[in-house]
Amino acid sequence: MKRTSLLLLMTLLTLGCKEEKPAQTETEMTDRNWWKEKVLYQIYPQSFKDTNGDGFGDFQGVIEKLDYLESLGIGMVWMNPFFESPLVDNGYDVSDYRAIHPRYGTMEDFETMLSGMKERDIRFVLDVVVNHSSDQHPWFKEASSSRESKYFDYYHWWPAEKGEPPYRHSLFDPEGGWDYVEAVDAYYLHTFAEQQPDLNWENPELRQEVYDIMKFWAEKGVDGFRMDAFQFASKDTTYPEFPEGHEKEFIKWYGMRPQLHEYLKEMYKEVIEPYEVFAVAEGAGSTLQDAHDLVDADREELQTAYHFEYVDMARTPESFKLSEFKEVFSKWDSAFAKEGWLAVFLSNHDNARLVNRFGNPSPEFRRVSTQMLNTFLLSMRGTPYTYYGDELGMTNIDMPTIEEYVDIDAIGKYKTAQKAGEDMDAFMQVLNYSSRENSRTPMQWDTTAHAGFTDGTPWKQVNENYKEINVAVQEGDPNSVLNHFRNMTRLRNENEVLIYGDYQMILDDHQQIYAYTRTLNADKMLVILNFSDKQAEAALPDGLKTGKVLINNYQTLPFHDDSSLKLQPYQALIVQLK
Ligand code: NOJ
Repeated sequence: MKRTSLLLLMTLLTLGCKEEKPAQTETEMTDRNWWKEKVLYQIYPQSFKDTNGDGFGDFQGVIEKLDYLESLGIGMVWMNPFFESPLVDNGYDVSDYRAIHPRYGTMEDFETMLSGMKERDIRFVLDVVVNHSSDQHPWFKEASSSRESKYFDYYHWWPAEKGEPPYRHSLFDPEGGWDYVEAVDAYYLHTFAEQQPDLNWENPELRQEVYDIMKFWAEKGVDGFRMDAFQFASKDTTYPEFPEGHEKEFIKWYGMRPQLHEYLKEMYKEVIEPYEVFAVAEGAGSTLQDAHDLVDADREELQTAYHFEYVDMARTPESFKLSEFKEVFSKWDSAFAKEGWLAVFLSNHDNARLVNRFGNPSPEFRRVSTQMLNTFLLSMRGTPYTYYGDELGMTNIDMPTIEEYVDIDAIGKYKTAQKAGEDMDAFMQVLNYSSRENSRTPMQWDTTAHAGFTDGTPWKQVNENYKEINVAVQEGDPNSVLNHFRNMTRLRNENEVLIYGDYQMILDDHQQIYAYTRTLNADKMLVILNFSDKQAEAALPDGLKTGKVLINNYQTLPFHDDSSLKLQPYQALIVQLK
């Protein structure tokens, strides 16, 4: 077969085999909703764009970049917390849920940013951090000064007269999940840091406070809520002793209690339904059934959630296995094929950069492997959640010593490992590769000082590769990661089959290739992705051999001979089948 060189779009491909029409499947259409259709872009506000020179990103910076956001073809923005906070966990410790932290700007700036998004048909998703508050929140200050305060019951306490509380694992604190407060002679519970006391969702007054906060923001015009750490909100208030060694299954011990569903139904009636907004939960429980119980439409609880099953897969470069990755995504897709809806993500502010974890950050393969991963993310069923900088292929940074870290999670894990007598060199290697600080570096806008992020001193060092990886350089290159991302969002936005179509994996056992079809009635797309740094060969099944190449991140077609493919390293193709 003749090899044709081509630019990205719309090249006719015909393999020599007989033309075969794909079977027309009658896809059952799940209910259509904008939050299923729009691509979500996550902004970590302190790292996006600084306009006042203080080294932290701000709302005015986002306002400056609204046209850029629109140019990406995204339709929703989720912004990490920007509320008043002592910033122990970069804003996931809120001391006033209705106030803006001054480093981001004012409420007026927020409103200008929101209306700028609305003008561009971009919806806004607010991060709601209500499994816990900050210990500096007036509720906690009151609660920890007297047992008689009505706020005492806004938190979880273990009265000291009952003796020492049973051990609870804390995700950030090596000393465990309880801390003593002398004034009330009791211990309070914190699943995260000691400065993040857990709120008591069993208390109806507390729940009402939360709904009021959500209404406040819904009235400002936000379109959705991302419920932080929400699986933990309802707990077993007998606080059973946590069995050591079960840290990986902590949700089973700490969260997903049956009452959670009652609270979510209440929240639905109070906020979600009347304001016509949506809510996505961070986490989807431990099982497929848990996830269905949270998001199925007839439950009237949440609208969507994101599961974590593959998050632990790429903690070290060796731990990623394509076979497991395929299995996990296929399993979750098939469980939600008829009912329920999930979000799909490969990275966020809690994980290292996408290209380091699932692709290849070397200069040779960085571009193609990021393009391949973005092709995957934007062609799967489920709302794609993309993280700022991944549209450029931003990479991890190198932080080999603990002194360089500022993140409470990294520091807590370090102390825990030290306490357990772990090999600290090996620990640091894993941390350097997998820490979430990798993905919080300033956005790389151009080749000027600090990548155009700030005129001041950035709160965190800019990745030293910013002169090669930045928006300005990629804008003008039709083959850049950025323009590939735009091609992909355009393709998804224009083809319902990529949103609602059935997913069917093919070449299941292939060690290098992940391939699948998406089918919606007569429309059928074939997605073929080489996840490896080597060429990959495969024979396509009958019926999938004729079509139009819509996406290709190489200049060459991969067709080897009449019936087989030879993909280049990290080659990604989408073919519209005939
Ligand atoms: C999950 C958030 O994504 C993470 O960044 C934060 O540290 C914890 N929840 C605690 O709020």
